[in-house]
Amino acid sequence: MTWVHLAYMLASVLFIFGIKQLAAVRTARQGNFLAMVAMVIAIVAALAELAILYPESFDPRLIMTGLIVGAAVGAWLGMTVQATAMPEMVALLNGLGGLSSLLVALSYFYEQMIEMGKAGTVAVVLGSDGSVSVVLSILIGGVTVTGSFVAFGKLQGAKWMPEKPILLPHRHLISGGVIAATLLFSYLACFQISARWGLLLLLILVSLLCLALGVLLVIPIGGADMPVVISLLNSYSGLAASMTGFVIGNNLLIISGSLVGASGIILTMIMCKAMNRSLLNVLVGGFGMEEASGGEAKKQAYTKIKSTDAEELAQMLEAVERVVIVPGYGMAVAQAQHTVRELADILKKRGASVKYAIHPVAGRMPGHMNVLLAEADVPYDELFEMDDINNEFSNTDISIVIGANDVVNPEALDKKDSPIYGMPILRTHESRVVVIVKRSLSPGYAGIPNPLFEADNALMFFADARKGIEDTVRELKSNA
Ligand code: TAP
Repeated sequence: MTWVHLAYMLASVLFIFGIKQLAAVRTARQGNFLAMVAMVIAIVAALAELAILYPESFDPRLIMTGLIVGAAVGAWLGMTVQATAMPEMVALLNGLGGLSSLLVALSYFYEQMIEMGKAGTVAVVLGSDGSVSVVLSILIGGVTVTGSFVAFGKLQGAKWMPEKPILLPHRHLISGGVIAATLLFSYLACFQISARWGLLLLLILVSLLCLALGVLLVIPIGGADMPVVISLLNSYSGLAASMTGFVIGNNLLIISGSLVGASGIILTMIMCKAMNRSLLNVLVGGFGMEEASGGEAKKQAYTKIKSTDAEELAQMLEAVERVVIVPGYGMAVAQAQHTVRELADILKKRGASVKYAIHPVAGRMPGHMNVLLAEADVPYDELFEMDDINNEFSNTDISIVIGANDVVNPEALDKKDSPIYGMPILRTHESRVVVIVKRSLSPGYAGIPNPLFEADNALMFFADARKGIEDTVRELKSNA
């Protein structure tokens, strides 16, 4: 057992170093590898512990079958998933993590009750600490399962369920009622009901209520807010795992669950801050609804738009020294990253300096732009975070905004009644010329007009991002 505990400690340390290395693009791959090694050590140590403590019930064949099937499914999913479908994948895995916590807590309680040989309230069977851990595992695990599955469904688009918020009549009352009933039944299970079957039924009822709560909490949130919700549910799945660690007395599960819980909530807060929205605002819905209803009317709000095309853009780019490329959600939709890199390569060959400005919430998931640009082999040192590049726009000849909208909207700086007021933006409007490549004047995710489109130094290039940049590259090549 000493070796098992040492292995757990080593795995915990590796998890901590792994997560630390995930904080920078350059070391992220190594961080992921460390975490993978930690997980293998953790699995081997957990199996060794089982074999030592329960030699009669330890069935290696059953465990190996589970491991092989699980590893094969995981490897297949990991190899086939598209980078842009990562939030769905994370949602699915969160859901399975929550489900494990729920099932482990229920079965542990049942096992302890059988071992005790007589029925008793949860607090009598497990002691007060144990009962808190079991109930929290069930509560958090249950909400995480269905919440994550609904989030997964919403991200699949219309195929599975509507992306738009589903607003049930009296939804706050219904959710409040379910929460009150869950707490009441949990209390009864912990301290009042001691008959064996009555108690089990009560815990199953609590589980079902939590599963219903997961659905009720996530269906009113619009599909576009799902990345934030998934990050929050990721944090819940970590908390549930941590609670399960307390239930079964496994320190490694407590540590790794806490790491997931803490990092998930930090990521959630970073996303909310970068959107200048409170978590509450995301959870009660809002932006998704505006986007769905406001588009057409807001398109007509512009009066002095100037437009350009590939030929003119290519001409302008022939004489520039400093270019900043600002990618956004539209670049992901158009899958324009490879063409964008080709454009940057041509400009660099001609002696221009090309930098990419990355807003923390550009696109629809954390690190969306970094992933796409890395896929197109854009060197890391050409990617600049918002705070590092914002002072350079005033010194930039041309900023090319590719399918981005909200993250360059100057309304966030000075229009106090704007829904995005206070959100930090990339200050492309300070560059000498800013060219915005998008298909129309449609608003972005926040559903609001963008005064940048009619700024004196702005030119709209109406095109699909990929097609528009491909045409520009062709023009540049033909002029060479
Ligand atoms: P948005 O403001 O959503 O704007 C994207 C623009 O891309 C749209 O205006 C659209 O205009 C254009 N577009 C779509 N398809 C295109 C195509 N094929 N070719 C060219 N353009 C295309 O995007 P953003 O500036 O990246 O901002 C992200 C928004 O998402 C922020 O409001 C942020 O708060 C929110 N959000 C982000 C995250 C994360 S973690 N990244 C999570 C949740 C919410 P057209 O239709 O006219 O082409």
